[in-house]
Amino acid sequence: MSNTPAIHPSILNADQAHLAEELARIESADGLHLDVMDNHFVPNMFAGPSFTQTVLEHTSLPVDAHLMIEDADRWAPQYAEMGCAVVTAHAEATRAPFVLVKELHRLGAQAGIALRPTTPLEVVEPLLGEIDMLLIMTVEPGFGGQSFVEPMLRKIAAARSMVSAQGLQLRIQIDGGVSLTTIERAAEAGADVFVAGSAVYKSQDAAQAISTLRRLAGAVSGEGRSTTGIA
Ligand code: DX5
Ligand code: ZN
Repeated sequence: MSNTPAIHPSILNADQAHLAEELARIESADGLHLDVMDNHFVPNMFAGPSFTQTVLEHTSLPVDAHLMIEDADRWAPQYAEMGCAVVTAHAEATRAPFVLVKELHRLGAQAGIALRPTTPLEVVEPLLGEIDMLLIMTVEPGFGGQSFVEPMLRKIAAARSMVSAQGLQLRIQIDGGVSLTTIERAAEAGADVFVAGSAVYKSQDAAQAISTLRRLAGAVSGEGRSTTGIA
């Protein structure tokens, strides 16, 4: 069974020249999704430690850092130290995930593991009991504004079954192409934390977009606003 749905806007495509105003637009969200990109793991560059620090100082939302960076074992812990509520590393970029997850927990953050669209779920199966969130990418990581990759619905459903089979209540986050037209199917498949970049920032009224997305996701799972710690 899924948890109460949570909406985490991604600020990747917010107007960076007006960061404070852009952060104020999403105050009603459940968390802030911060994409960190190193131009190696993905062909784009964004955020990094000092920008993350600035964001943390200007938002009251829990920050969920999505690290699209190589050598996560080395670079991820600093995001936990800074105060990000959740730190998510890609399975493809960590060599010692059990050690990393333990370290993130020791530093007071929740730990997530992310999978690119073609990385099989089996890679994370042994880790599910250790992590707080599984991120299933629903586009190739790197850019906002892409279309939802439909075959990922089966992967989400398979992940939810795998989580339930282990008797866990792990959150399953999806990221990429989440919109008013895709969120219900993703919620039905078993996702419960929804990253939304364009769907929130391209709308005139971000608060309205957040509440509509939340309602659509909740209509499927029969829940309202999230009450969980980060979400
Ligand atoms: C893409 C990022 C996403 C991105 C989502 O690699 O991880 O968080 O900002 O943007 P939308 O919602 O526009 O697909
Ligand atoms: Zn992301």
